[in-house]
Amino acid sequence: MRKLLLLSFVILFTLAAIAKDKIVYIEKFDNSSVGDVFKVFDIEGDELTDASAVVEADPASPSSLCLHVKTGSKAAFVEFQNPGNISGSTVLKTYERIYMQFYVPESNTAALNRNVVVILGANSQTVNAASGVNEAGKWIPTTQTLGKASSIRKTVRIGLNVKEGEYYVKLIRYLTTDFGYDYNDPTQTARYYADQLGLNFGVCVSPGQLNDNSRMGQTIWRNFNMMVGENAMKMDATEPNQNGFNFSQGDAILSFAEKHDMKVRGHTLCWHSQIPSWIGNSNSADNPKGWTKKQLLDILKNHIYGVVKHYAGKIVEWDVVNECLADGQSGNGYVLRSNSIWRSVIGEEFIDSAFVWARRAADEAGDYDVKLYLNDYSVDAWSGGKTKALYNLAVRLKNSGVPIDGVGMQTHTQINNYNLSGVKESLEKFKAAGLNCIFTEIDIEGSNPISTTQLKTTQGEKYAGIVDFVCSYEISPTMVVWGISDGNSWLSNAATTKPLLFTADMEAKPAYLAVVNKFKEYAEKAGVGQVYSDESPWGESAVDVYNITGQKIASGVTIDFIDNLPEGLYIVGGRKLYVK
Ligand code: XIL
Repeated sequence: MRKLLLLSFVILFTLAAIAKDKIVYIEKFDNSSVGDVFKVFDIEGDELTDASAVVEADPASPSSLCLHVKTGSKAAFVEFQNPGNISGSTVLKTYERIYMQFYVPESNTAALNRNVVVILGANSQTVNAASGVNEAGKWIPTTQTLGKASSIRKTVRIGLNVKEGEYYVKLIRYLTTDFGYDYNDPTQTARYYADQLGLNFGVCVSPGQLNDNSRMGQTIWRNFNMMVGENAMKMDATEPNQNGFNFSQGDAILSFAEKHDMKVRGHTLCWHSQIPSWIGNSNSADNPKGWTKKQLLDILKNHIYGVVKHYAGKIVEWDVVNECLADGQSGNGYVLRSNSIWRSVIGEEFIDSAFVWARRAADEAGDYDVKLYLNDYSVDAWSGGKTKALYNLAVRLKNSGVPIDGVGMQTHTQINNYNLSGVKESLEKFKAAGLNCIFTEIDIEGSNPISTTQLKTTQGEKYAGIVDFVCSYEISPTMVVWGISDGNSWLSNAATTKPLLFTADMEAKPAYLAVVNKFKEYAEKAGVGQVYSDESPWGESAVDVYNITGQKIASGVTIDFIDNLPEGLYIVGGRKLYVK
């Protein structure tokens, strides 16, 4: 039977850890076999015989292993060896916290709400959590701060403080970062939840960053499900000589995307900047080659046809026209930027033509799904004149029958300026106009330098606010950050304003964790946060199936029917499920 739902993500994510990680597994049970036994001790350090800790199949996901602990007349703590390179005394010097996941079965809930005990040092030197696991029948992650022990033993003993109880434990590791994040565990990544929700969570990349095994490459494919070339598909890269196309950079991005099951968006077909020198000067109205209007239209058409056809079927969204609006708009009508050769030689119709050619080229190549966007910056809150200008132009295009699907808000912004309720107001306007509105180049800078509160709290609130939008507006399926880390930003002050989701050494920032948590909240609300294997989650009973727009596809069907559905989101027996 085909594996239902999210199983393939799990397989995708179980690749090896890499050397630069500051996260060290004590025990994952991936080198264990069913039936392996671990020693158990009481709090005084005496070995117990009426308790057991045996490797078994994970009760929630039977294809992997975990440890099943049963206690008797005393609470029992399981002994684990510290990993080879960690002597007892280095634990506290190097690691601040310990992370693990517990599962309390519904058949014996004695272990609920008991302290988590970690014994690092001499007997009874413990680290206790105020509360441990508060819900049965699912894996609950817990992170404990390490400390207190004066003399450290070579082993670490761990358990829930319960007699006559039962629980499972897995994924036990030491952490050194400030933040409990480990990209080897897919459930800690935003991608995991974005995939389930059918949303695009993207990052701009350069081909040189796309190494499967580097920290950078792994951070990209494990955390994001979409990429866009930071420069790879701009006109100076794709048509460096007239009618001499070069797709090598974009193709490199596509092949990485294919390998890691990611989507790609295209940026950009027509922009006043980064144009090849055979056309003229970037950021300028000058026409040094003396092109006639007809000649420049032909150049634009040839470019759009060449690029869109090459990538047809492989790219899900194109920024057809980028940054065509002037700064400082009144909000009445719209004013186009003047330092653009397209505008100065062709006039406004370069915009209409670009969209029509992009659509025709895609359609001719059989790609009827690619979405076409008008992209710009400083078009966030509805109170901004330029936001209204973008709206006015997009509506004008749509009303003229130009095939535009929506607008892209670049979202190059600052924590102190980005106004979430103002953006929401804009989304309502675009929604009412029947236009998509997506977030295409997000970076959210702090003050210079960023403050601790911004770094720990408010930056995450702004990022999570955008996640809220993409999760709750159907017109907003995409959010893309403009750079993988604070060390890879185009912004000149990025080292101190720290606008992105990862630190320069690729640690997850609190803002990233805020993004993960927000996606997770929606995924769980939608009921798609669970991973099922071949088991039908609704047993043998017959269910009704709806598509995501609420149309009934089938009544009273069973698992075999669901199994043969095309990939996508469905509502099956009242739950939102992703069939893969
Ligand atoms: C930037 C890139 O990040 C830089 O590497 C490049 O030197 C200049 O362009 N708006 C856009 C993007 O639409 O294409 C720009 O990207 C950032 C602003």
